[in-house]
Amino acid sequence: MNNIPDISSAQHKANPHPLYARLRAEAPVVRIVYSDRKPAWLLTRYADVAAALKDPRLGKDPFRVLSAKERAEQTPWMPSFLRPLTTGMLDRDPPDHTRLRALVHQVFTPRRVEDLRGRIVTLTERLVARARARGAIDLLEELALPLPITVICELLGIPEADWPRFRAWTNRLVELRTPLDMVRALPSLYMMMRYLRALVEKRRRTGGDDLVAALVRAEEEGSRLNEEELLAMILLLVAAGHETTVNLIASGTLALLDDPGSLDRLRREPELIKPAVEELLRFTTPVDLATERYTTEDVAFGEHVIPRGQRVFPVLGSANHDEQVFESPERLTLDREPNRHLAFGSGVHYCLGAPLARLEAQVAFPAIVRDLPGLRLAVPRASLTWKPSSILRGLTRLPVTFAATPIYSVPRAARPTAAGLHP
Ligand code: HEM
Repeated sequence: MNNIPDISSAQHKANPHPLYARLRAEAPVVRIVYSDRKPAWLLTRYADVAAALKDPRLGKDPFRVLSAKERAEQTPWMPSFLRPLTTGMLDRDPPDHTRLRALVHQVFTPRRVEDLRGRIVTLTERLVARARARGAIDLLEELALPLPITVICELLGIPEADWPRFRAWTNRLVELRTPLDMVRALPSLYMMMRYLRALVEKRRRTGGDDLVAALVRAEEEGSRLNEEELLAMILLLVAAGHETTVNLIASGTLALLDDPGSLDRLRREPELIKPAVEELLRFTTPVDLATERYTTEDVAFGEHVIPRGQRVFPVLGSANHDEQVFESPERLTLDREPNRHLAFGSGVHYCLGAPLARLEAQVAFPAIVRDLPGLRLAVPRASLTWKPSSILRGLTRLPVTFAATPIYSVPRAARPTAAGLHP
């Protein structure tokens, strides 16, 4: 198919679905020039995306799968001090991936996530109360963003004074689209690596009960995690924990504002929150493209064969809107059942943070629809813009208005509580 536009551009992110529908129908397995100016294949049908995510013939580690020449042709340039960016478990295959994932599982347990529930409720209450006192906010900056950033930074033990710096660095990190982006981001990325090395050194000396301290102990006890892998793990948690949930909360709120019937229904039927969050994950798909894989041999998808040594992107945003699997995929159906969306990926790299992201969303959305009465967009819908991004999909801002109420007049019973939010 000719004329495939840049799929990391802001224009494409604003409404990717017409192009994805066309690709599913006419070119479901297609070779493109990606935003880093290197070749890549896109998979857009649900069946192919789901199969690719579970297929061991699609490897993640370019140093294992590709020759030096193939790497030079297909992977973007990266300076050596950023090597930890490419040694995280998201870029590794079994058995290395299995070892790293087991290790982080030891410290990032369901119990640790569940323990965060009260903290997430308190943070949400505080952010919503602050918003209510004003009557108008940028929901992205003042609600969707501070919640997951605070949670991940507290979890990792990053001091509050450093959060703004972290935000700036991770913004750079997730915006690496072109070779020029990489060059521009180098000073920020260098500072971030230096900061993380210092954080690890500090935890070695002082210990603690945060995630970094637990990972340092795991490294020291079993020497099953070397220093570079330890940094890579922290970096991955920071990056993955920053922009993804932000996009779910902001894009999900916009989806509800676009469909007032659904917004009203969620307000009236809060017990719908669990399926509603799954539907908002499907509908918005904050990670639009899964990260790259490389074919270790020729791999067939239907009648199409991708030769060995090629870079492949499974397009989650397209799979989640595939009419072969989801009835009326462009409609938001809060109680959709079944809903086998791929928003968290699938297979061995299935999102490690899914329980945390779900918990945050299950607390945030009820608070937004219930405690911000009369919620509506403060700007024309057409003026909203989306961030250019290689794999994510998210708004640049979401200005909203609602009825302002001084916080002391919000009845206690109407505020979110740990028990009340979870059916
Ligand atoms: C709505 C929020 C989120 C979405 C939509 C999301 C989505 C995803 C997806 C699609 C993958 C698989 C990528 C691939 O196979 O190429 C993934 C992996 C991962 N995610 Fe998330 N994520 C979210 C939140 C989080 C959070 C909050 C954390 C951390 C606290 C996190 C940590 C990770 C990690 C560590 C991996 C790599 C797992 C592995 O390689 O085994 N994610 N995520």
